[in-house]
Amino acid sequence: MLTINDINFKGKRVLLRVDFNVPLKDGKIADDTRIRASLETIKYILDNDGRLVIISHLGRPGGKIVPEMSLTPVAPHLSTLISQNVNFIPDCIGPDVENAISTLKDGDVILLENLRFYEEEKKNDMEFAIKLADSADVYINDAFATSHRMHASTVGVTNYIKTKAAGFLLMKEIDWLGQVCKSPSHPYIVVLGGAKVSTKIAVIDNLLPKCDKLLICGGMTFTFLKSLGKEVGNSIVEEDKLNIARDILQKSGGKLVLPTDFIVAKAIAEDVDVRIVENIPEDWMGLDIGPTTLETFKKEIGNAKTILWNGPPGVFEVNKLSNGTKELACAMKNAKENGAVVVAGGGETASAINKFNLKQGFTHISTGGGASLEFLSGKKLPGIAALEQGRLKT
Ligand code: 3PG
Repeated sequence: MLTINDINFKGKRVLLRVDFNVPLKDGKIADDTRIRASLETIKYILDNDGRLVIISHLGRPGGKIVPEMSLTPVAPHLSTLISQNVNFIPDCIGPDVENAISTLKDGDVILLENLRFYEEEKKNDMEFAIKLADSADVYINDAFATSHRMHASTVGVTNYIKTKAAGFLLMKEIDWLGQVCKSPSHPYIVVLGGAKVSTKIAVIDNLLPKCDKLLICGGMTFTFLKSLGKEVGNSIVEEDKLNIARDILQKSGGKLVLPTDFIVAKAIAEDVDVRIVENIPEDWMGLDIGPTTLETFKKEIGNAKTILWNGPPGVFEVNKLSNGTKELACAMKNAKENGAVVVAGGGETASAINKFNLKQGFTHISTGGGASLEFLSGKKLPGIAALEQGRLKT
């Protein structure tokens, strides 16, 4: 696969696919992490005199123009971040786009409108891909978080632009997530949380043979505990996954570690009463890990050379239920300071790290949600495969 370092951008029209699928609140960008994550790539292309055309999706508008999902607010924001004018073109194909591209000078940049305003994008429609590709000499993909989608802008377009390469963000994601999948230093500890075991089965299958311990936490704990016949009160359980959870536990050979105590409450709210328990009483829900579990997990993290974290152990948005998440994140920061590689992934995990201001405590925080889970499951992501191959069958 070619990388951005292999390309001479001087005077070239560069189609750059990024993932600017950022949360908007009242028309403003609520979290610009994903925009900042591609700045290195954007600046590199501009500094090397490329004529830059940025494309992205935002939300799931379903092939229709949805004004609330317009990329309009991103242009001035990006412009501030790179200290350069970013012209916004209110379409992603058609005469206005062609005109704007034809007048670009070396080092200029434009941002096109949401790709998903066309249903052809998600269908990986070839006519649409040709229109996207039409006025570009080079294609760069920096949209790791969308690389699990076989869409026109991530896959189809690569059939029609000869020179295609990975941007810096995509390279970083492949390097770090690849390292924890393929060549981790040991002891290697995986911490998996989040509500549902169903979304993590493939990750567990792929990583269990490679890690030394897999620490389970979050809502999915209770599907595992119930599969062992334990009482879980009102805690979240995926009833249809009990057999799978039991199978995973049986084949884990003792590598899988479950919490032994919990912070429980009857509701999720700031003013709620909480208790620390080992056995969850009827009517109560497990909503964070308890102090004994925390100590066990911190010890494992403290001894590790590689740590991968996906999914918070508690409802970190509520202060009384956030201790486990915050303490685990702090333990990972300490481990990194002692030389461990610490990689985190998943939207909720990244939000928790942001909330506790612990970004510096991580070697790499993936921008991918679904994409990082698929990567960690060992799957080849279509957007990455398309950069590696001459032509990808679609
Ligand atoms: C994400 O937020 O995970 C990516 O932008 C992909 O979005 P999608 O799940 O709507 O394809």
